[in-house]
Amino acid sequence: MDSPLQAWRDTLEELGVMGLVREPVATAPEADLPPAAARPPARPAVAARPAPRAAPAPAPTYVPPADPRGCPPPGVVAAAATLADLEQAIQGCLACPLGPGRLKFVFGEGDPRARLMFVGEGPGRDEDLQGRPFVGKAGELLDKMIGAIGLKREETYIANVVKCRPPDNRTPSPEEARACLGYLHRQIELIQPAVIVTLGATPLRELVGLSEGITKARGQWKRVRVGGREIPVMPTFHPAYVLRQYTQDVRRSVWEDLKAAKEWIDRPAES
Ligand code: URA
Repeated sequence: MDSPLQAWRDTLEELGVMGLVREPVATAPEADLPPAAARPPARPAVAARPAPRAAPAPAPTYVPPADPRGCPPPGVVAAAATLADLEQAIQGCLACPLGPGRLKFVFGEGDPRARLMFVGEGPGRDEDLQGRPFVGKAGELLDKMIGAIGLKREETYIANVVKCRPPDNRTPSPEEARACLGYLHRQIELIQPAVIVTLGATPLRELVGLSEGITKARGQWKRVRVGGREIPVMPTFHPAYVLRQYTQDVRRSVWEDLKAAKEWIDRPAES
């Protein structure tokens, strides 16, 4: 079995923090392209006429439930005094079209008094099956990222913008995000984190209200006001993006962002 030191070293290497000298540094954008043989052939000079496309299937119409018990009114959400009360109140939610399609409601998990909170986009297949956030491949990487700043997953709190899986893992629509945002706000009010790290563009847009690209926004402190409190927000890349773009630059950026968040929570309290 690996020693703890070796495991730590492996994690840092995976995040691109170690091995910087040994590995060749990519200098040209070309370096991230597949080898020429694997690339698609160049386009022919005269483009072939595209085959006629089938008309897209009409989007299914969402009919709001007649039984309002599935849609907790805002008063019930505001009255939830603990995370457990809140989960109990909202787990049957059918306030948007995602509700009827879920297998499990993914409320979020972690230390109810966490100083560091992560907010992702929404559950994927593994999360929908297990009812827990970030338990698939992206979750494995998130756990490693958290470990690399000296914390354990359970010392943080992990939640998503939407609590039910969007079909085919698509980005939640603004309406779906809005239907769920009150729940996330109440979670934040109850946890009172010192810092929120947003993972990817969706939580930055829906929670912080910024539509700037994540490549530009990452690493730059933002703020969000929730329940009368201003909370510093550190935007970074979504772990699923890191898995897709597994370059040293991307991994190093995430490491820098999480380090900044950790430094913030570790700073001495102001007197
Ligand atoms: N991606 C997310 O944004 N959240 C999860 O919980 C899992 C994958």
